[in-house]
Amino acid sequence: MKITGTGSASPSLTVSNEMLATFLDTSDEWIQTRTGIKTRQIISTEQLKDLAAEASIIAIDEAGIKAPDLDYIICSNTVNEYVTPALSCILQGMLGANCPCIDLNGACSGFIYALDMADALFKRGNMEHILVVCAEEPTRMVDWTRRDTSVLFGDGAGAVILSKGEGFKSFKLSTISNTEALYQIRKLQDSPFVKKEEEDGALVMKGQDVFKLAVNCSLSDIKEVLRLAGIKADDVDHYLLHQANMRIIDTVMRYMGQTKRNFPHNVERYGNTSSASIPMLLDELNKKRKLKTGQKMVFSAFGAGFTTGACMLEWTI
Ligand code: UT7
Repeated sequence: MKITGTGSASPSLTVSNEMLATFLDTSDEWIQTRTGIKTRQIISTEQLKDLAAEASIIAIDEAGIKAPDLDYIICSNTVNEYVTPALSCILQGMLGANCPCIDLNGACSGFIYALDMADALFKRGNMEHILVVCAEEPTRMVDWTRRDTSVLFGDGAGAVILSKGEGFKSFKLSTISNTEALYQIRKLQDSPFVKKEEEDGALVMKGQDVFKLAVNCSLSDIKEVLRLAGIKADDVDHYLLHQANMRIIDTVMRYMGQTKRNFPHNVERYGNTSSASIPMLLDELNKKRKLKTGQKMVFSAFGAGFTTGACMLEWTI
């Protein structure tokens, strides 16, 4: 498969570090030094499905197809206002598509897992075009009285159209079961029959554990996709890493012996938008004409699960 279109959408409300410091014991200096984040976009008047639709329509237009041409919609989403139906099913109606739809919850690695699933569907043989859309609203998950998590995230959507072709060269996915480092529990509704003492449901994160897992797993995933593709680290024109934290991106970059030249980032403007972060950055680079046909790219992400994944591709637009 190859990428034939990209799209992205962000909510309208910009929240600066200074705005957070008006109600949290934090500062612009702490947030920037530890994460690189300056501002993030947060859902207020919008709904996540609107962002998902906007990103998808931009990608569909660029691919030169119409929604009914889609053979599958895979939506990477952790939470949205609906528990069911899946966001992809809601989106299908908004777009006017008529293909099968499925959501996957791979947390921040969801984009890579969705690409891997799409790759398998293409290899099955009866697909022409697949929409992968990552739509995430982590600001719905955090406790806004907790400075250790709420300052890190933003909302957004990023989409790609995948079409039959030769773009993707290698994948490496891994999962290490871990319910300690990063999790959120959905509280049980009490019934006349069952009462359980459960924690209330905001996102909990052991930041330093996630940091170490992220660096180690990203490095080994990236090295493996390079090996499988038969290329060297210096051959890659663009490394697009999950935009969670500038210090993680910089650490991976240094260990790979690379420079800022081929490690683009926008975490400073969007915060961590979970699985939407790579397709949002990809669309930004594409729309700014920073990507040239034939250039080599690596995507790499990590997230709750603990899920990680990377892939290597050649740019095909
Ligand atoms: O998609 C996956 C998402 N997760 C990640 O990518 C997170 C990976 N981890 C990280 O990026 C970093 O661990 C953080 C940015 C989350 C935290 O940075 P850190 O350097 O690991 O800080 P820490 O957790 O060791 O906390 C240091 C201090 C603590 O205070 P004490 O105990 O030393 O007095 C925290 O309470 O910083 C405090 N702190 C804050 N201070 C000001 C935690 N959050 C804040 C805050 N503002 N927002």
